[in-house]
Amino acid sequence: MFTIGLVSDLHFGQETYHRGKLRKLTRDAPKLAKAFVESMNEKVKPNLIVNLGDDIEDEGRDADLARYRGCHQVLSRAAAECVHVAGNHDTVNLTHADLRSIWGDGPWQSSASRPDLCYSFERGGFHFAVLETHEKTDVDITLGTHQLQWFEADLRAATLPVVVLMHHSASEQDLRGNYWFEGREHVALVKERAEFRRIVRAAGNVRIVLNGHVHWNHFDVVDGVPYVTVQSLIENLDEDAPGRAAAAHAVVRLTERRTTIELEGAERARYQIDSTV
Ligand SMILES: [Fe+2]
Ligand SMILES: [Fe+2]
Repeated sequence: MFTIGLVSDLHFGQETYHRGKLRKLTRDAPKLAKAFVESMNEKVKPNLIVNLGDDIEDEGRDADLARYRGCHQVLSRAAAECVHVAGNHDTVNLTHADLRSIWGDGPWQSSASRPDLCYSFERGGFHFAVLETHEKTDVDITLGTHQLQWFEADLRAATLPVVVLMHHSASEQDLRGNYWFEGREHVALVKERAEFRRIVRAAGNVRIVLNGHVHWNHFDVVDGVPYVTVQSLIENLDEDAPGRAAAAHAVVRLTERRTTIELEGAERARYQIDSTV
């Protein structure tokens, strides 16, 4: 069994109000991130930890560097290896070089010459493909031709079942009722998602696709492939202040034929998929 601990949208940053309401409990981010790391170290003991991105709010270069470092200081206390995905808020004021330097040593180092922060690696009998989705504010979210070509070649070369990690969603999830994204599909879902899924379908070796960004827990299956969105660690589950934190994270357990997903925190759920991949 290979166990993965996942956390997303940690949003270390200044407290801000959205449409006059306190929806992101950013003040609690360091405390909630520490609790996640402690739970991983003491209870779950995963083989790998995945940070699905949006570690910060974008406030300005100096503030973002300090917050991003602060977030990674907490994550670095994890006993398990921790891999990172770039989120849209992470790259507003910070460069790939900033992120790579804060991430330090890891499987992303082999990809330094690529224009996108995408990389792949193998652990415990699984192949992990990490993508960088690019969000243009209020316009769209794209992977780009170059990265889609890299992804297609990476899947074709993979000899193990593949776990895809990305910040935005490439599924077809129904966004009705989502506080942040109802009616705003263009800034929730990847624009080239049909092409992404054509590549996945043709490769036939993708076990699961995992993402964050949408700030809710969501599970859907497209062409037999499960897509899971992990809720933001710091989402306020109440309408406004003082707030009740989602404290969300997930534990995914992979065996040769089965995937179990436990969504943890204040809104818990459990899924199990028996897979041919
Ligand atoms: Fe986010
Ligand atoms: Fe995001």
